[in-house]
This record gives sequence, structure tokens and C-alpha cells, in this order.
Amino acid sequence: MTTKITTSKKTLTEQPKQFARIVLTEDKSSWHRLVETTNGQLEYQMGAGKREDMTPRSFRTLVRTIVQAAKSHQLEQIALHLGTMGCPKLAAMGETWFWRTLAENLTLASYEFTRYKSKKDDNKSLKEIIVCGLAGKEAEAAFKAGLIVGEAANATRNIANQSASDMTPTALGTAAKAALKGSRASVKILGEAELKKLKMNLLLAVGGGTKVATKLIVIEYYGVSKDIKKNKPLVLIGKGITYDTGGLNVKPSGSMHDMHLDMSGGAAVIGALSAIAKLGLKKNVIGIIPAAENAVSDNAMRAGDIVTAMNGKTVEILHTDAEGRLVLADALTYSERFNPGTIIDVATLTGAALSALGQQASAFMTKDEALEAKLKALGEESGDLLWPLPLWDEYQSGIKSHRADISNIATNFSRFGGTIEGGAFLQNFAPKDVPWAHIDMAPRMDAIPGDKLARGATGEPVRLLVRFAEQY
Ligand code: BES
Ligand code: MN
Ligand code: ZN
Repeated sequence: MTTKITTSKKTLTEQPKQFARIVLTEDKSSWHRLVETTNGQLEYQMGAGKREDMTPRSFRTLVRTIVQAAKSHQLEQIALHLGTMGCPKLAAMGETWFWRTLAENLTLASYEFTRYKSKKDDNKSLKEIIVCGLAGKEAEAAFKAGLIVGEAANATRNIANQSASDMTPTALGTAAKAALKGSRASVKILGEAELKKLKMNLLLAVGGGTKVATKLIVIEYYGVSKDIKKNKPLVLIGKGITYDTGGLNVKPSGSMHDMHLDMSGGAAVIGALSAIAKLGLKKNVIGIIPAAENAVSDNAMRAGDIVTAMNGKTVEILHTDAEGRLVLADALTYSERFNPGTIIDVATLTGAALSALGQQASAFMTKDEALEAKLKALGEESGDLLWPLPLWDEYQSGIKSHRADISNIATNFSRFGGTIEGGAFLQNFAPKDVPWAHIDMAPRMDAIPGDKLARGATGEPVRLLVRFAEQY
């Protein structure tokens, strides 16, 4: 069940009686109570802290906390009136940011993953939210855009949260088609025979250990014109490993059970493109998702195998669990045909990114300083936080192979700097002279309690990718 979120021109006190009203105070954010006023009106009163202390970050958390509180008190209908509320740091972000952010976070917090629950609604029965206080067309438009982006992020979570036995590469392609249905975007799905013709041998090697078919999902959205010479597209590439056992270098137990989420980057690219198409952005945007299952069998790639990539470079596969960079490498080469203006890849690439940043932010790497500044700023603006790591040439020496051109992990098997190592590997496949950034979203694959979201996929970084496309 999805929560219906609408806006109203009437004031909060004019809302139907059955809607519990959200009333914020300047008390500490831990303070809250549910009261029935003398005329029988339900009010949920909660502390939001001092107005001058409210930041974009704490505002997003506040909005999510309101929705979580409504769910835990089993309120089915709530009405609220938030504005920049005399909070100077919110006012500084502007009205458009405010209403967009409010809608996005109400939507994200409403989400529950119920697909495998036999009883869908227990305790999570929030049916409707009415939002008051929007003044003018711009606020309404920003709010509507926020709903579109929030729903796209929730669609991403729905795709990612499904078990790998359901969300195969074929099913991921079907999900992409469903997400883009009725839009101006087209979805093309290449099968193994075509991938072989294209010499996408790294992608095929990763998917070679299972009967589960390997696919390349390509989404094309031309919001300007199909003339990609004139209007160079933004290319978004998402890792689509629908299950990661680690391959023959099999993962230990305790590290495998959530690897159905290893296609989160791919799901985010699908979500971002669906929002971009729904918003009708006047930009050309291409989504590329190399999709495969990294399985264990007698046909699986072996550690020590050497495979020729689509771009002709030979790759020594020293570790079969470093599979994400292999499929992305061929996707980067494939992207050349679209004459990209900028490329951003998104992947749950390394556990080392969690060691570096914890679970609060995704890591990213780029050699383009303007792109670095832009992504960091958009992370803060959207809430899909990013933090940079270096991509210095010095890091290349670690992956120089004595048997092939390059190896997929450090040849001395060092575990140090694992996230940068992934970026350094990908750099060998990124088209020359095209601004490119690699986002390692492994830290944000799974929601943490502080997110105030349902457990499982976060839907990141859909909000960031859509903003990037808007400003591209
Ligand atoms: N999908 C994993 C990375 C991952 C781990 C994502 C934990 C989210 C949570 C990736 O394919 C992987 O296995 N990476 C290896 C790389 C190593 C073999 C160089 C890793 O992180 O251990
Ligand atoms: Mn792996
Ligand atoms: Zn993986």
C-alpha cells in the first residue's frame, strides 16, 4: 500500500477532523506526545529543536521522523503545515529546495517493502498525508517534482529489495521496461549472443558461472534531440550484479545474505531515468546497466583467468569477488557509442568503502575538479551524501599485472585502499577526455537506523542523479 500525499490550500485547522495534526515545538527533538484536544482533535506534538539550529540535514530527518511516528502510532491520516518556519538555514536554501525536499522525504519515509509479507498492513497503515501551506505555483511545482523523485527512489528500492531468485538480470530488464513505460525513453536489452558479438567478454565472464542469463540493459532518453553530436548525453552506468556469491573466491557466510542488493547501482539508474523522463527534462540521458549473477559452478571464471575486455585490454582476474569493476569496465567502453558529455557510474563496489566512511555517505572518485565540486554540493543539497577519495596515477602501479595488461585487484593482494583500487581499475576503461566520476555506494546499500527509513535498500543516489541531470 502506498501512502497518498496531497497538498491543500486550506489551513491546517480547516482539514477534516479525522486527520491527526502534526504540531512542531522548539523542544528537544526527542520530545513528543500524542494528545486529544478538548474538541476531540488528535494532535501529534513533537519537538523539532530551536529554529536557528535547523539545518537541511536535520530537516530531512525531521520529516522522516514525522512519518515514522505516524506509522508507529498507527495514525492512518495526518495533516501538517511546515514552512521554512523561520528557520534561517532552511530559508537560505530557498522555497523550491524546501518543497522539493519535503515531498521527497515524506515519500521516502512512507515506503515499506511488503512484497514477501503475507499480511501487508500490520502496524504500517499510514494511508494519507495532507500538506498545507504551499503558496504559489512554484511551490506546487517543486512539491510535485519531489513526489516524482521520491516515488522513483521508492521504485528503485522495490527493485533492489527483491530476492535474487526473483530479480534476475532478465527481471531487471523487465523492471526497467516497466519503470519507463509510457515515457519518451526507450529500453533495449541485449542478450548473450549480442554481447559476444560486441566482445563484452568481461561482462560475459562474470555471468558465465550460471544458467541465469546475462544482459545489458540500455535506456535512451532524448529530451533535447537525437543529435548526440550536438547534444552530448549524460551517461549513467549502474552495477547490476543481481547476486554476488563472490564466485570461486566465495564469500564467507555473513557476507553473502544481502548480496541481492548488489544491483543497487543499476536499480538507481533505472529510478533516475524514470524520474528524468517523467519530469520531461530537456536533456539527453543514457542509462547502461550490465546485469549478471556472480555464481559458483564448474563454468565460473577462475582466479588466474585472463580475459580480453571490450576495449582490447587484457585483464587478469586475480579475484572473482572483484566482479563489479569487470562488468562496469565493459559498460564504460560500450558508453563510447553515445558520445558522452559526462559519465557517472554507480556501484556497490567495495566493502572497503564502508571501512573508509562508515554507512553515512557514498565514496566517489573523479579526476575532474568541476565534477568533484558539483557532486559534493549536490550530495549535500539532495541528502545523498558523497565524499571524495583521490584517483592519483600512483595507484595504477598496484594493479599492473605481469601476465596481462592489468589485474582486477592489487597484485600483492593488499587490502589497503580497496575503494580507490576499484576506481583506479575503472579508470583504464573510462573513455578518454570525458569527465567521469565513479560512485561507490556500498556504504549506502542498506539503510541504517539514523536514516529513519524502512530497512533494506535506501534508493540512493536517485535524488542526486536527477539533480545532476537537471543541472547538466
Ligand atoms: N559487492 C561487493 C562489495 C560490497 C561488500 C558491497 C559489502 C556492499 C557491502 C563487491 O563485489 C566485492 O565483493 N568486493 C570485494 C573486492 C575485493 C575482492 C577486492 C570486497 O569488497 O571485498
Ligand atoms: Mn564481489
Ligand atoms: Zn559485487
